[in-house]
Amino acid sequence: MQKITSLAKRRGFIFPSSEIYGGFGSCYDFGPLGVEMKNNIKKAWWDEMTKTQENIVGLDAAILMSPKVWSASGHLTAGFADELVECKKCKKRFRADQIGKECPECKGVLSAPRKFNLMMKTFIGPVEDEASVTYLRAETCQGIYMNFENVLNSMRMKTPFGIAQIGKAFRNEITPGNFIYRTREFEQMEMQWFCEPKSADKFFEFWLEKRMKWYLGLGIKKENLRAREVAKEELAHYAKRVVDIEYRFPFGWKEIEGVHNRGDWDLSNHSKNSGQNLKYEGCFPYIIETSAGADRAFLTFLADAYQEVKGGRTTTTESAKEEEIVLRLDKKIAPIKAAVLPLVKNKPDIVNKAKEVYDLLKPHFSVQYDEAGSIGRRYRRQDEIGTVFCLTIDFDTLKDNAVTIRDRDTMQQERIEISKLIATISTKLNDDV
Ligand code: GAP
Repeated sequence: MQKITSLAKRRGFIFPSSEIYGGFGSCYDFGPLGVEMKNNIKKAWWDEMTKTQENIVGLDAAILMSPKVWSASGHLTAGFADELVECKKCKKRFRADQIGKECPECKGVLSAPRKFNLMMKTFIGPVEDEASVTYLRAETCQGIYMNFENVLNSMRMKTPFGIAQIGKAFRNEITPGNFIYRTREFEQMEMQWFCEPKSADKFFEFWLEKRMKWYLGLGIKKENLRAREVAKEELAHYAKRVVDIEYRFPFGWKEIEGVHNRGDWDLSNHSKNSGQNLKYEGCFPYIIETSAGADRAFLTFLADAYQEVKGGRTTTTESAKEEEIVLRLDKKIAPIKAAVLPLVKNKPDIVNKAKEVYDLLKPHFSVQYDEAGSIGRRYRRQDEIGTVFCLTIDFDTLKDNAVTIRDRDTMQQERIEISKLIATISTKLNDDV
């Protein structure tokens, strides 16, 4: 984990938030490569939901909602609280289920557990009193339930149908940690599938399989992914059945996504509390939810792709003696698709040609231009960030108007005419074989 964290910072994927002030409460910022990669993950999820499925539409609801939403959803009660204990000596606080009988920091005596609600409180408007209290959303799906009728009517949907949404969520976690695995501000990718109660079990299985395949299809190794049935005693307050999709991180098997049967908990509670009838054809649809964390997916792809090659991969150059890092990210997820590398930087003709190629590709793909250091070193810098192709502009380019394209994984090289580059790279990136 330490190696992944340091690579992420060194190469512009993830920085600690407010770093010049010493960081802030396990918050992180996504850097230039991080934002590209996260956008790629979100796009892959969005396309999977809204393009490969017939009956799913998108939504982008507000983060701030009426506090009545959270009282009806059950989030303001003990159901959405963790047990907290405090060390009587050093005053540090911990989640009761994550530690033993004494303080892990100073071995002090712990207080009796008490409930700690995870909702992030804020005030809306100019007066900070009880009447103006509201909350940052703790799950994005409540915005979907608020718009169930709007979507149903405006889009003339019929069950079964789904609504997909990506957005920020906030929880005042007692013990965030493991880099971006558990943070207080994070992004969810949630899809709510509204169906007849009698078909809920069938759709649960359907969505679980789909979601497992999504990770595998984007290159996650089979042996690092599993589905775990969550025991009845562990279920969240809204759930009838939960299967967690777990990934084998360096710190153990951990949940990255939940597939939930929420029954009619949400629509019936919001009907009761709002006075609006949220039934569809006389009954409340059941909801099968797929709830993934974009940040956890990010960490999953990063951890799974990370590979150290002792002694390096090249056998022909000096670099063979060094350890090499390759980020074997799926082509869709990789933040940089191609790097443009002039073979030498002291020949203006070659440099100009390379810049021409860079300008040609830039509107179409995320590309980098790099002329610093030996070509071997530059290949390794690109491998380390998972760049899919490296394009070298050399002396022959000036004669034949072609470049050498090197594949990150196979290291195979082929010669391609500049006029065919856009089409060739597009084909290679979209080629699923
Ligand atoms: N709407 C259902 C729901 O929110 P959840 O199991 O509490 O269910 C779903 O959360 C997903 O959101 C998790 O599997 C995880 O990927 C992500 N998530 C939850 N809390 C998180 C946190 N503190 N930091 C990062 N991701 C989190």
